[in-house]
This record gives sequence, C-alpha cells and structure tokens, in this order.
Amino acid sequence: MTKIKITKVETNKRMEEIISLCKRRGFVFQGSEIYGGLGGVYDYGHYGTLLKNNIRDSWQKSMIQDRDDVYLLDSAIFMHPTTWVASGHVGNFDDPLVECRKCHNRMRADHILESFGISADKMPIDFINKELDKLREEKKLKCSTCGLSDITAAKKFSLMIKSNFGSPTDELKEENVVYLRPETCGGIYLQYKNTVDSLHPKLPFGIAQIGKAFRNEIAARQFIFRTREFEQMEMQYFINKKDTKEKYEMWKEARMKWYFEQGIPKDKLQWYKHEKLAHYASEAYDVKYDFSSLGGFDEVEGIHARGDWDLSQHSKFSGVDLSYYDDETKERFIPHIVETSAGLNRLVLMFLDNAYTEDNLGGEKRLFLKLPKQLAPIKIAVFPLLRNKPNLVEKAKEIYDILRKDFICEFDDNGNIGKRYRRQDEIGTPYCVTVDFETIEKDNMVTVRDRDTGNQERVKIDELKEFFAKKL
Ligand code: GAP
Repeated sequence: MTKIKITKVETNKRMEEIISLCKRRGFVFQGSEIYGGLGGVYDYGHYGTLLKNNIRDSWQKSMIQDRDDVYLLDSAIFMHPTTWVASGHVGNFDDPLVECRKCHNRMRADHILESFGISADKMPIDFINKELDKLREEKKLKCSTCGLSDITAAKKFSLMIKSNFGSPTDELKEENVVYLRPETCGGIYLQYKNTVDSLHPKLPFGIAQIGKAFRNEIAARQFIFRTREFEQMEMQYFINKKDTKEKYEMWKEARMKWYFEQGIPKDKLQWYKHEKLAHYASEAYDVKYDFSSLGGFDEVEGIHARGDWDLSQHSKFSGVDLSYYDDETKERFIPHIVETSAGLNRLVLMFLDNAYTEDNLGGEKRLFLKLPKQLAPIKIAVFPLLRNKPNLVEKAKEIYDILRKDFICEFDDNGNIGKRYRRQDEIGTPYCVTVDFETIEKDNMVTVRDRDTGNQERVKIDELKEFFAKKL
C-alpha cells in the first residue's frame, strides 16, 4: 500500500495545546488516523461539528435572515470540466513548488521568500527562481525539515484535484476527468441564470453558498488552517459596475461587523490590502486574524471586487447569454461582482484560538474555552450532585428533558462535580445546572454556575427556561 507522508504541523506550544484539546475533547481528529493519517485532511468530532455548524449558521443568518437581498444555493461539488477552463483554474491555479533533494520535503517557494521579507504573491516562476538563486548563493536556502541546503528550482504545481466520471478503468482518461471544485463560487456563476429566472431578483443581489472545496496544497500545514479538503462560505453580490466602490465598502463593513459580533476583539483583526491583483480584479482585501500561536496575523476571509470576469467567461465558454436587463434604466449588461469568501475551518481555528483561556479559579489553575454563547457546542450541562442517589438523578433528568427542548444540553453524572465542571469548561459550555439535596428537600431550586466567572446562583426550577432564554 502507498505510504502517505503526513506534513509536519508547524505550531508553537499554545497551538500544540489547542490541538491536544481538540483531540482529547472530541473537536477535531486527524483524518484516517488509524492508517497513519492522511496529510492535510481532518475530521470533526461531536463538539467540533456542533461548533462548526454554529459558525456556519451565524454566517448564514447574517446573509439571509438579517438581509433581504441574498439568496441561497447548494450546488454540486462536481461541475462540467469546462467550468474550470473558463475560470482559468485549469491553466493557472498553481503554487511554486520546491523539494529538498535529501529528505524530499516539499515546500512552497513563495512562503520561503516571504519568510525572508520578499513579496512573492502571484509572481512569475522566473522571478521566484531568481530570488531563490540569490538565497542559495548566500547559503540561506535550507530545508524546513532536515535543514540541508540541497533544494530544487521552483516549478508550477497545480492545486486542482482530479477525479474521473464513468471511466471503465481505474485510469484517469483525459475525456473523463472532472475536478473537485477548488472554490464554491464556481457553482454560483453556473446557477446565476437559473436564480435570476426563478426568483427574479433586482440588482444588486447576492447568491450565497456553503460547501466543500478541495485544493492539492503543497504544504498543508498548521493543523486546520490550510488543508486539502475544507469548507468555504462564499457570497457573490451582483451589481452594476458604477456601484462597485459603494458596494465593496458596504461588504467590507458588514463582514468586519460580523467578526465583532462573534466576540473577536478589534485588536485581533486587521485588513490586508492586496497590491498584486488578478488581472480582472479591481480591489482585494483580506480579513486577517492574529493567530499569534501560529506566528502572527493570517487570512481568514477575502473580499474581492471581481469585475465582470466570471460571468463573461462562463458566457463565452458556454455560449449562454448571462447578461442582465435593467427594467428601470433599460440597460443590458453583464453584472459585476463583489465577493466575500471565508474559510469555515479556518474560522473554527480562529474561534478556538480566541477562546482558549487559562486562569485561576478558586486557587486552582483551569483551562476553559471562552466561546461566545451563541457558538458554544453545548449551552447547558445538567448534573445530579451524586450519581448514586436516585432521587437526585431522577430530578436532574427531568430538568434535562425540559431544557433540551429549547437548548442543546448535556446530562452528565460521570465522576465528581469538579471533574464535570472541568470537562464542560474545556468544551466551552456557558452554564452548568446542579441538582442537590436542597433542591429535593427544601427549595425546588438548582445551582446555576457561570463558565466565565465560576459564580453560582440559585434559580427556581420553574423559572429555569425563562432564565436561560434571557441569558442565551
Ligand atoms: N473564491 C475566492 C477564493 O476562493 P481564496 O482566498 O482562495 O478565495 C477564500 O479562499 C478563503 O478560503 C480563505 O480566506 C481561507 O479562509 C479559505 N481557504 C482557502 N484555502 C484553504 C485551505 N487550503 N484550507 C483551509 N481554508 C482555505
């Protein structure tokens, strides 16, 4: 069987601890771990899936429920192969690859140059090789794994992942090749016409979709930051060219506001303006988050003014007219596009990094995820004080059954109460409810403990639902 090489995860101690928490508490696992793992592929466990879905839902709410000009789409991962010829991906979607001749570690040449302060974003391969030669002469060019200096020249490496359709053999025959989509927006362009014809939206309007994308990354690295299979949340906003500046600013503001609303502090976010643009783009900014545990600010989302490139190309290659007729101005034109494109898995990492907190509670060091309540995988955990007292267990289960109708709850009677608090803190549960002897014998009240402060208060069972409805 082919031995699959797992790319070394480049992280510092804090990120190692987050990765360890993710595995220990069932957030994220290495893909195919029992077979030695598959590089750049990760699976999400129970709490990771709940967290990811909550981020996804919050994004979708901001696009759909909070506005009336964006529509949803869920297009297939496989698309007609010409899609990716028209978009330029088949010819041009590549990264510069170098390899260590000694240990065969593969690295991105542009990342090597950037580590020396040389900007190599979207630069031609000749430029990259000239810069690499200079580093080679200065004996600065070294393998990131073995440290030796025998590094190949850079060559273009396509990020497109191929599959095959209907082939009777295992071979990838050229005529049967289909690609796993490298970005989700391709499906939006192909269904632009059906959306217009079925929903009759007036410009400006957007189409949003969330789904899987695949890239054959040279150096899938830094845990779930850069992987070969990932999810994107993309929105394409169709506009009249004359409105580009206004709508671009509107989306920049709206997207940044979303991050603040999800509790990311202002000083951990910044804009990065791309100086080197794709030939069709007029503006491109990234939202960068301070992944200090990965070495600094890095991209979580891109906001791009893409002009009329996408619809024009698909119109040209398909022969289908994708122009828009404006009833009011009596103009016919190919709409321009402002795109927002966020990586869902990268956002999971961002929220975990931002939430990972160590403090001292009651004289004891503790670790907890200070996740915003709306994103926490479990909202309330319900415990009986002791598991061997049937009346406490019965009452706790009764309360759990009431609360779970409205909130994602967990019942826990394992170990002692201290252990349960620790476990819930580590998965970021905002509230724990404990049923004790006083509940049964005296006051019909329970203890509600707050994750962030550790403060406890007594709340009447009859008022619990209302209490949490206000808090969560
Ligand atoms: N349609 C535009 C587009 O795909 P991009 O900058 O290539 O733009 C957008 O990707 C976002 O997708 C990035 O900001 C990042 O969050 C996420 N992303 C891209 N490649 C990724 C990868 N290999 N692993 C995880 N997330 C990725």
